[in-house]
Amino acid sequence: MKFSKQLIPWYLQNKRDLPWRKTKNPYKIWLSEIILQQTRIDQGMSYYLKFVAHFPTVFELANASEEQVLKLWQGLGYYSRARNLHYSANYVVNELKGEFPSTYKELLKLKGVGDYTASAIASICFNEASATVDGNVYRALSRYFGIETAINSSKGIKEFKALAQELIDKKQPGNFNQALMEFGATVCKPQNPTCTICVFNSSCKALQTNTIAKLPFKEKKLKIRNRYFNYLVIQTLDKKTVLEKRTSGIWKNMYQFPLIETESEVDEQEFLQHNSFDTLFNKAITIQLFNKESIVHKLSHQHIYTRFWVVKTDEKFSNSLNWSEVSKYPVPKLVDNFLEQYNNN
Ligand code: ADE
Repeated sequence: MKFSKQLIPWYLQNKRDLPWRKTKNPYKIWLSEIILQQTRIDQGMSYYLKFVAHFPTVFELANASEEQVLKLWQGLGYYSRARNLHYSANYVVNELKGEFPSTYKELLKLKGVGDYTASAIASICFNEASATVDGNVYRALSRYFGIETAINSSKGIKEFKALAQELIDKKQPGNFNQALMEFGATVCKPQNPTCTICVFNSSCKALQTNTIAKLPFKEKKLKIRNRYFNYLVIQTLDKKTVLEKRTSGIWKNMYQFPLIETESEVDEQEFLQHNSFDTLFNKAITIQLFNKESIVHKLSHQHIYTRFWVVKTDEKFSNSLNWSEVSKYPVPKLVDNFLEQYNNN
């Protein structure tokens, strides 16, 4: 049977009684949808009731001060949403003579309104068939159809929107959208979904293949690690320096100046306190930072902030080489760029 033909009757019989489900006023639906992006239904309800009591129409919201709006929003967090509400209310009043936009395309022009909110308002209030894809929808569709595309990838975002758009009931898009979200929120829940009473339990792909717990699939976003490299460009009185060979990592077997890695960017004072100096040098040194601005080398999972420190000393090193020989050694691009600048100085 057609997906929506099973879904909508389930919704009409089982939907929760919520205040914003008694209206098609776009201003109120907009308020409810923005609030619900920020919190769960139970907490969202009291904020929604407060907002419509204080600001029954877009005119009262526009006339309020931003501070009043923020005060009412207090506790929900993400305060730019409240500022956007206030800003957009003024836009509707001043630019649109108080008439709320009535199409997906026009709704998108409101600050803080993206694909999801524009689709929700357009479908619920104006019967426009634009699918809403929230976390509940991703979960329900990925399980029912057994889709493993990551929901936080751009491919996944496009794929699920296209699928929901294909499934939407064009005669009652508002009911369809709310039904699918409600179904995800109350039946096809993240933990312990109630598959035994689910209207889709004879055709759900994830139930058949025992993959409910694995879906929806999410890509692990790599956390970017910031690293701070300090290269010691040693200059001895007899025009020698020191290069070391890297033994691991992406620059394995390439050469670099002796490296001191620090937890953050350091100034000269802090740097000289690093305990590596005691092991590296016995004699007096003078030190000068070559590049005031760190050079940032961006890799897929780390950003390397690099500083080159010119260290002058009359110390003798067993592994030193003449400065003129440095160019013979393979060095990372980062070091090569430095050498070019330094030698031309
Ligand atoms: N969650 C957020 N908005 C919703 C809506 N309109 N219906 C069901 N669940 C929702």
